[in-house]
Amino acid sequence: MTKDLPDWFREGYGNIWLPYAQMQTVGEALPVVATDGVMIELADGRRLIDGIASWWTACHGYNNPQMQEKIIAQVKNMSHVMLGGLVHEGAATLAKRLADLLPGDLNHVFFSESGSVSVEIALKMAAQYWINLGEQGHSRFVCFRSGYHGDTTAAMSVGDSEAGMHKAFSGFLSQQFLQPLPETDQEMAEFNEFLAEHKGQIAAVIMEPLVQGAGGMKFHGPETLAAIAKICFKHDVLLILDEIFTGFGRTGTMFACEQADITPDIICLGKALTAGTVAMAATVATDRVYDAFLSDDADKAFMHGPTYMANPLACAAANASLDIFRDEPVLDRVRRIEGHLMQSLGQFRGLPGVVDVRVKGAIGVIQMKEIGDLAALRQQFADEGVWIRPFGDIIYLTPSFSMESHELAALTQAIDKVLNSRE
Ligand SMILES: Cc1ncc(COP(=O)(O)O)c(C=O)c1O
Repeated sequence: MTKDLPDWFREGYGNIWLPYAQMQTVGEALPVVATDGVMIELADGRRLIDGIASWWTACHGYNNPQMQEKIIAQVKNMSHVMLGGLVHEGAATLAKRLADLLPGDLNHVFFSESGSVSVEIALKMAAQYWINLGEQGHSRFVCFRSGYHGDTTAAMSVGDSEAGMHKAFSGFLSQQFLQPLPETDQEMAEFNEFLAEHKGQIAAVIMEPLVQGAGGMKFHGPETLAAIAKICFKHDVLLILDEIFTGFGRTGTMFACEQADITPDIICLGKALTAGTVAMAATVATDRVYDAFLSDDADKAFMHGPTYMANPLACAAANASLDIFRDEPVLDRVRRIEGHLMQSLGQFRGLPGVVDVRVKGAIGVIQMKEIGDLAALRQQFADEGVWIRPFGDIIYLTPSFSMESHELAALTQAIDKVLNSRE
């Protein structure tokens, strides 16, 4: 262990099993003592500019005073109460606000505590939709290459089970229809034929709209999303959009699906829903999906109920974040960041080893031919005073929307320095 670490780190670190890490070889994690604005403060006093907003959550920056005030008031009044048979104001208000913000008749909000679980819920909802209608055989999902929907079992099964991070599980997971994401007219025609042929076996198509995040920050246009949705609707196949990453402004609009002017049957929300404060996710269904669960028959009810669903602290946080979206020009901030990233990351085009540079909303991606030692690269970034966490073959930025231009410039300078130090 490095010298001068705080006692709590020395004593407890050995008992923590880190995410996505080979514990035998993983380097020492950085001890964090505080966050502030876009900064992460380390135990040794260093302050890193967070270029990825804690896995795309902290969209208004850390320690936002308005959010803190609402969360603290909520702690004092009621930290938690079960949702089974009891409903509190924060949950009702949030459900209504989400329904009002979402397009179309996405009116029925089912709360949970993590993105992966919201995906499990969406898949289960879609499967039971068909069961409740008395239509047998709709037992598989169509998903796309480079897709990622979480780490729980069903969510893994609809990720890219061949190339993605869960490929070791391919023999263990439910077999889904893994397809290439159609983009050209020819590919759309093939996708159309595929759905026509298999629709009797399909519960739903699931995809991340506009940006496939953890699968490599791959972009597609709104016209692609609109065309896929149109084919789903034509064949009466349910469409689930996973907006856990793209939701709440990340791609430039409140929800990515707005850019394609479509309403999915089910949408999954998480991450920036509570702006990097308290764990929460939601699965929202249209009237049509919801109505299929209404019956005199108790067996047609949706049998799901996460213990901490609609946790009052999380609801207070989400409502406070939506207040900020309502009262402040948050989407203008995203546009400013997009402009900045386009200009500043553009300079890396053509550098040796850089294959592509792309920007959408507050997402900037530098695609490398080969990235080499990821751990060493992350360390180099930390040494430059920034928290950037490259994965696969990309270096990317997903800053908080409150990030100022000089902080964005510092991120770009760090990338410049690190890229230029490579042989
Ligand atoms: C598109 C998408 N879906 C689902 C998830 C899983 O969310 P969680 O990590 O909250 O379970 C993620 C997380 O990165 C995601 O990006």
